[in-house]
Formats: sequence, C-alpha cells, structure tokens
Amino acid sequence: MAFLTWNLNYSVKVKNFDNQHQRLFDLINSLHDAMSTGKSNTVLDKIISELVLYTKTHFRSEEELFAKFSYPDRLKHVSEHTEFVKKISDFEKEFKDGKIGLSIEILNFLNKWLLKHIKQTDKAYSEFMNKNGIN
Ligand SMILES: [Fe+2]
Repeated sequence: MAFLTWNLNYSVKVKNFDNQHQRLFDLINSLHDAMSTGKSNTVLDKIISELVLYTKTHFRSEEELFAKFSYPDRLKHVSEHTEFVKKISDFEKEFKDGKIGLSIEILNFLNKWLLKHIKQTDKAYSEFMNKNGIN
C-alpha cells in the first residue's frame, strides 16, 4: 500500500492544483519506497532534489494566482509555503552534506505537513478561485 494516497477529500476544486498535489504525493511515495527498499543515497538524493524543486514550482503556481486575484489570505498562505520550503531545503542540504539520513520521522513530517496544508490552508481558497473562474 502506498504511504500516501490522494482521494477526493483532498480536492481543492482546482484541477491543476489537484494534479500538482498528486504529483507531490507521488514524489513522497517514491521517497518512502526508496527508503524502505534500501536504495542508495544517490537515488534518495535525486528524489529529494526533485521534491524540493517541484514543491517550489507548485507553490509558485498557487502564489501567482493569489497575486493575480488579490487573494485576501495570501500573506498567511505564502508564509506557510516559505517556512516549508526553508525546512525542506535545509533538510536537502544536510542530507547532501551527509549530516543526516532520511528517516521515517522526516517522511511523517512531509506527509503530515502536506495533508494539513491541503485540508486547511489550500481548501480555504477553493471558493475564491472558483468565483474567479479557476476550476
Ligand atoms: Fe498552498
């Protein structure tokens, strides 16, 4: 069974963002699988880099629409993104420097952060986006 499974309860009612969220789920699952099956640090390294890069791309997509439509809650939302990017970038660096390894605690942190952010912070923009013609 996959570590993280996307379902309609996680839908933010914007197709593009649902797709991007599913891609993030896939990347976290790849990381979990790679760790569970004892893949090399080179393999883990590659997935971690991809996860960090894709997270930034995804956040940028959301933030572009917040700016375009002057989403009222954008400051709080963007600050959650910024804080998360800092955490995963720090982790990426420490992993690459060999200071820490990938652990189930880190995977659980990614999992919990993402689900909470989608269910609370992202879902809060659904109606606003739909009203602005973004579905
Ligand atoms: Fe978000």
